[in-house]
Amino acid sequence: MKRAENQMKLYLPSLSVNEGMARSAVASFVAQINPTLEEISDIKCAVSEAVTNSIVHGYKYESGIIYIGVKYYSDRTVVIEIKDNGCGIENVKQAMTPLFTTDTSGERSGMGFAVMQTFMDKLDVRSHIGEGVRVVMTKKLG
Ligand SMILES: Nc1ncnc2c1ncn2[C@@H]1O[C@H](COP(=O)(O)OP(=O)(O)OP(=O)(O)O)[C@@H](O)[C@H]1O
Ligand SMILES: [Mg+2]
Repeated sequence: MKRAENQMKLYLPSLSVNEGMARSAVASFVAQINPTLEEISDIKCAVSEAVTNSIVHGYKYESGIIYIGVKYYSDRTVVIEIKDNGCGIENVKQAMTPLFTTDTSGERSGMGFAVMQTFMDKLDVRSHIGEGVRVVMTKKLG
């Protein structure tokens, strides 16, 4: 791919309050290339799911750093990377199956990855147990 036209990097501690912060920061950054309201809303939902996963599952509400990278290219492709150094996922394929969750509290529905997949054009999830998770999502704006 060509060089990014613009990029942003953000490191946030894994506090629940930072989920909204991450969502708004990514939205403001992407707003520079005039997305539609629907596109912005899709991106916010996807970011929210990925960051929540890092806080809830990756770090289990304990302290850690969430890394967020956003780039956009001249063809209006937006690439968002969300990474943690948490517990990692043993079986990524299984984790990405809609309705699959390791949550036992009944609070989670196992739809986070499905939401990311629906709202973005491409979703790539890499992980090894004990080594955190890296989610890369791509969306081409109209
Ligand atoms: N960053 C992460 N670190 C460790 N495990 C993760 C991470 N993200 C996802 N997982 C695992 O993948 C499963 C599926 O994630 P997904 O977001 O689809 O559903 P959920 O978080 O369980 O529920 P929901 O997102 O609907 O609240 C999680 O239950 C968890 O086991
Ligand atoms: Mg989730």
